[in-house]
Amino acid sequence: ENTQLKDIISHAKEYGFVFPSSEVYDGLQAVYDYGQMGVELKNNIKTLWWKCMTQLNQNVVGLDAAIFMHPLTWKASGHVDSFNDPMIDNKDSKKRYRADVLIEEKAAQYENAGDMERARALTAEMGKLLEVENLDGVRELIIREDIKCPISGTTNWTEVRQFNLMFSTQVGSVAEESSTIYLRPETAQGIFVNFLNVQKTGRMKVPFGIAQIGKAFRNEIVARQFIFRMREFEQMEMQFFVRPGTEMEWYEQWKNTRKKWHEAIGIPSDKLRFHDHDKLAHYANAAVDIEYQFPFGFKEIEGIHSRTDFDLSQHQELSKKKMQYFDNDLNEAGKPFGNYIPYVIETSAGADRLFLMTLCNAYQEEEITEGDATKTRTFLKLHPALAPVKAAILPLTKKDGLPEKATEIYNDLKYDFNLIYEERDSIGKRYTRQDLIGTPFCIAVDHQTLEDNTITVRDRDSREQVRLPISELKAYIEKAVSF
Ligand code: GAP
Repeated sequence: ENTQLKDIISHAKEYGFVFPSSEVYDGLQAVYDYGQMGVELKNNIKTLWWKCMTQLNQNVVGLDAAIFMHPLTWKASGHVDSFNDPMIDNKDSKKRYRADVLIEEKAAQYENAGDMERARALTAEMGKLLEVENLDGVRELIIREDIKCPISGTTNWTEVRQFNLMFSTQVGSVAEESSTIYLRPETAQGIFVNFLNVQKTGRMKVPFGIAQIGKAFRNEIVARQFIFRMREFEQMEMQFFVRPGTEMEWYEQWKNTRKKWHEAIGIPSDKLRFHDHDKLAHYANAAVDIEYQFPFGFKEIEGIHSRTDFDLSQHQELSKKKMQYFDNDLNEAGKPFGNYIPYVIETSAGADRLFLMTLCNAYQEEEITEGDATKTRTFLKLHPALAPVKAAILPLTKKDGLPEKATEIYNDLKYDFNLIYEERDSIGKRYTRQDLIGTPFCIAVDHQTLEDNTITVRDRDSREQVRLPISELKAYIEKAVSF
């Protein structure tokens, strides 16, 4: 892992953003907990997404479906049969790897060593590896002799096997029949199976969308890069139901809307890019990733997929329940086919990946001079709307009635913003601490405050201070933290 990512990981731990799960037992691989600052930042990301989806769009409504779903859901969606990763075991070390990742890494090694020919050859092999079909036409990943050598240089590898990524568990008594159920690997299916419930009870007209935020689970074989790829994570998904034939217009629209959203939360546009999928999933007729330039390279943060009527049709087939929508407008226009299964454009973002992106983007180290000395200042340049704490209320000293005055201000504003009241340590140390957690404003209460009811407001990014009447403070903060 590169040093910048290492710094960010230890910063996240040290200031209460992210802890390894069950750390007292040395952690659990690819599972993390969000600390006192992390939970605020993550909630702010989710709230902004939710607001932009539902509040700003009359035709997008929310849903909160259960994690457990009827097992047939995952048969219909294709996850039981094809939600697999190619896995390979090293017979010597007994370690398990993802074959495609292994090949990718080996190719990168060749590339770094200047052996472009072998790197290219290996990358080309990966395409073949992923396309192998067995005699029944089922996609199967078999490692062939000519691929085996470049990976390992030895033959001590097992064949590539399919490894289903879904976690399963038992409901009720274990002896019961069909008691195996899955922890959902995506939130989307909860939306699909509720499509008509929402459409009918909400009297929704196509085009309309359903948004949902919730946990998803995948038994990732390769779990690395901190919270980038976890076994338990959170998705923010929106399925937008459209008339068949109009899906490409909506695909383009959502693609651009979503990229703009990332820019609006403070991500520079040159750190974002679109990456069209070369190979489309079985359900899609167009798909693109939005990628962010992490310290470890451009990586996917969100996918926009044109899923056709695949999911609804599958659910119609397996549930034997009609998934059709009656389009009154089409009917009135005298056009045939007033009844149809809508097509779907999906936007699917990972809350944890957006969290990591936000943290990486905010993490700043700058050289500053204080008197004769230069030092490095570390601070989180978070969009004020995302910052866990909006302002710190700091009495200059612990005496002369300053704490009482500061507490008064704190009590006045706490209904509007998440604040910190802090009277320990020097004012300089307290500023530093707020910089490290990304608090946009530090409010100092000094002796002048007692005389004229003004306070100083220190700006996190410029470190400049302005003096304001207390009566203007709320509006001042509000303006900055609104989105
Ligand atoms: N419903 C479509 C779907 O689930 P996906 O590309 O598999 O598509 C969507 O996942 C998003 O979920 C990704 O862009 C990523 O942000 C997030 N995600 C997927 N797997 C993840 C994991 N193991 N850990 C963290 N986030 C993950």
